[in-house]
Amino acid sequence: MVNLRKSLWGKGYQPKLVQVPQTDYKELVRVGLDRFTESAAGFAKPVYFIVASVELGNTTTKCILTATNLREQKIYLLNKTVRLTKEMRSPLPGEEVFGETVWKKELTVNAVKEFIRDTLLQCLEEAKIDKDRDLHFVVRSTGVTAGFATPEEVGAMIHALAQGCLAAGISSSKMVAPLTKEHVPKELREYSLLDKVPFDGSVAGSLPPRTPGQVIANEMEAELSTAGLKMGARWIGFDFRNPVVAMDFGTTLKGRITDKSSPYAQTVGSIAGLGGAIPDALVQGAGLVDAENGSVLEARAEEAGGRRVSGGWEDWVEDALKHLRIMAIPPDSSRFGTVPVNPKAAREAAVFLIGCDIGVNGSNIPKLRRLGEKIRREQGLPALFRVIDALMARVASRIVELAMEAGLIGADVSIGLTGRAGITGEKPQAFLKLVDDLGLYPRGAVSDRVVFVEDALALGAGVMSRCMFSLGTPKKPLGGRRGEPCILAKRMKYLEKTAAWTPQHLKELKTSPAAREE
Ligand SMILES: Nc1ncnc2c1ncn2[C@@H]1O[C@H](COP(=O)(O)OP(=O)(O)OP(=O)(O)O)[C@@H](O)[C@H]1O
Ligand SMILES: [Mg+2]
Repeated sequence: MVNLRKSLWGKGYQPKLVQVPQTDYKELVRVGLDRFTESAAGFAKPVYFIVASVELGNTTTKCILTATNLREQKIYLLNKTVRLTKEMRSPLPGEEVFGETVWKKELTVNAVKEFIRDTLLQCLEEAKIDKDRDLHFVVRSTGVTAGFATPEEVGAMIHALAQGCLAAGISSSKMVAPLTKEHVPKELREYSLLDKVPFDGSVAGSLPPRTPGQVIANEMEAELSTAGLKMGARWIGFDFRNPVVAMDFGTTLKGRITDKSSPYAQTVGSIAGLGGAIPDALVQGAGLVDAENGSVLEARAEEAGGRRVSGGWEDWVEDALKHLRIMAIPPDSSRFGTVPVNPKAAREAAVFLIGCDIGVNGSNIPKLRRLGEKIRREQGLPALFRVIDALMARVASRIVELAMEAGLIGADVSIGLTGRAGITGEKPQAFLKLVDDLGLYPRGAVSDRVVFVEDALALGAGVMSRCMFSLGTPKKPLGGRRGEPCILAKRMKYLEKTAAWTPQHLKELKTSPAAREE
């Protein structure tokens, strides 16, 4: 492992951090229309694809609305409503508890349903988005997996989230992929290639693991985050296409490693376990937040961070690491870092599993809490936040190192991080320094190969929905390999071999509006 003591604090590295700006929907349409009227010859009326991402997390429950301009294939953030999951109402007498968060918050189907309904409605109202007229699709996902026994059981949670969306008055047709082009709303139809390239399960050019079951319980979140990193990276012109390592540090950790197969990349690695729960345990012990279920989010980390810290804090990082297990997930595990896993299915699909745990399924959380208390007492709060940033960068870089050791990645890989526990404060600089020291890239090249994106999962929900509606464009591909052109032609060849395609189909495909933009 890399020794942080030897390294300076990542100063001099310039992280590429993406925060998609929030834009008012009316404004977006107005500006687009202005352009339309100014130059009728050059522009067509903008068409926006509007998607809500509803996420039930262990710490936060979010509804994030995005709009994708289908001509430019650019994504905008319309609104974000964030609530603490622990504020969900408690089970009523007689209600069955069907799941619980990492911090033991008990969940019932009705409580989830009401909470999701209210969060979604609030978000739509704030953004002035009409659920019937403007909204096209709702994607539901969850990081809450600890209370389930197998990856498949998480389906019950996704179902409860759907109930919440229905209770908010969302039509059920906005929650399942359209079967045919006729099911695609009229205003979008021109852009849909659904009758030409059917939805085949690939999202942004990557195929999920080739198993009937899931290899990790938060597989879907890993998939969405990976796709969102690709889309977010585009905002700064960063080519985040395959092969990639994608990691999402929520309270839990989820991620994916893809290879460079073409036209579709295969998932060759899955990453699962505990993420933000690590710093949460430290601040819980330090008395900054509730001792049992508080989070760094509530501790206002940014205020305490960034200040001068006297030396010696590096030792605390080493101490904290002793309480963690960052490793290839052992083949006999049914759970790692509280997340249900299926190593047998992973082996059959040739997917390498990497995990991060605090002891065994969180068993060392009390030890981390005690360490947090000690750091605050002996060195103060700024040191505690410095330790948190350095520690999370170490966790992330160790995962990259494990992927290198397993031969899964090489110098052609791009790395993307999302989630507050991975990208806030000074974590990006520290991570760049550590990855530079791993020797994965030529010295100094690391800043151009790693991207940090805020709320990638929600951006990914927009991407996945577009894939379901087949609303891609060859002009600005997300699929395919880094630096290479669109995979549409290859996909067509691939489909030609695998499906009953007529020459007429292929001709139409080449002359569709999306293809014309190439
Ligand atoms: N500055 C920070 N430093 C470290 N961790 C942070 C910081 N700010 C927030 N976090 C942690 O990030 C996590 C919250 O992120 P997020 O809202 O993405 O998680 P979540 O969606 O609730 O979790 P999951 O999806 O894994 O269930 C919490 O564990 C929180 O303590
Ligand atoms: Mg989450």
